[in-house]
Amino acid sequence: MKVTVVGAGAVGATCADNIARKELAQELVLLDIKEGFAEGKAQDMMQTAALLGFDTKISGSTNDYSKTANSDVVVITSGLPRKPGMTREELIGTNAGIVKGVCENILKHSPNAIIIVISNPMDTMTYLALQSTGLPKNRIIGMGGTLDSARFKYQLSTTLDCSPADLNAIVVGGHGDTTMIPLIKHATWNSIPVTKFLDAAAQEKIVNDTMVGGATLTKLLGTSAWYAPGAAGAALVESIVRDEKKLFTCCVSLNGEYGQKDICLGVPVVIGKNGWEKIVAMDLSADEQAAFNKSADAVRSMNDVLKTL
Ligand code: 2OP
Repeated sequence: MKVTVVGAGAVGATCADNIARKELAQELVLLDIKEGFAEGKAQDMMQTAALLGFDTKISGSTNDYSKTANSDVVVITSGLPRKPGMTREELIGTNAGIVKGVCENILKHSPNAIIIVISNPMDTMTYLALQSTGLPKNRIIGMGGTLDSARFKYQLSTTLDCSPADLNAIVVGGHGDTTMIPLIKHATWNSIPVTKFLDAAAQEKIVNDTMVGGATLTKLLGTSAWYAPGAAGAALVESIVRDEKKLFTCCVSLNGEYGQKDICLGVPVVIGKNGWEKIVAMDLSADEQAAFNKSADAVRSMNDVLKTL
């Protein structure tokens, strides 16, 4: 297997680091536009191989896409990260051009690649990747809900004082501070509804803290987070290259599912060797469906901005 990570910044490098440590690929290419940067990160990571005991061969490339040829999976992290006080949506102008160009270059050399989009605003960048490449929809996966669901489990686990690994909890809808929908009524602690242990105020706090999870970190760090976004990208790569068929919430093209079409939005999907292989239907309550529709409206307006660029 060959995997490429485009963008050697904090998210891309963390994603690559996770991919190498788990030996998800024989060959891993890190590509960046900044001269020598990806080569440096790749060399630094390769120098951990003897210590960590992995066999993945990591190389770096300064914008030379021929080095990425025949990649099975490509993770796109390129673009500006958010600064404190900025929404993900404010990045659209700059990042749309970058993501479109990256997709074109990638497909010239890896026409069969499955593409995972991490760049923000993630829902619109996933939609753009799908529209601009014309690839079969199953090969374009937006990572957002995988990260947001992990953050939701973090918030639940700290309140319940339990292991995050024992929780089943997902966030659907958009990957924006006001568009994501942590489905707390569906969340369980090893099959026991978490709502049994949480009063209304605690539930509301967990939901709100999850929704602003990225913004909270941006404020603390001065830039966008990277450990969880990078790990979320690598978890999707793992499910693809090992054909695990794990269920993740990802931003995918909807064609009537969950009452929406002509949009990419976060829903539960099975991830395997063909990319996202199927959308899993959940029974949403009327309130949850209304929130999902509202989220779709907001993401659709953001997608409309693409036409003006
Ligand atoms: C985040 O929420 C990078 O969008 C990403 O941290």
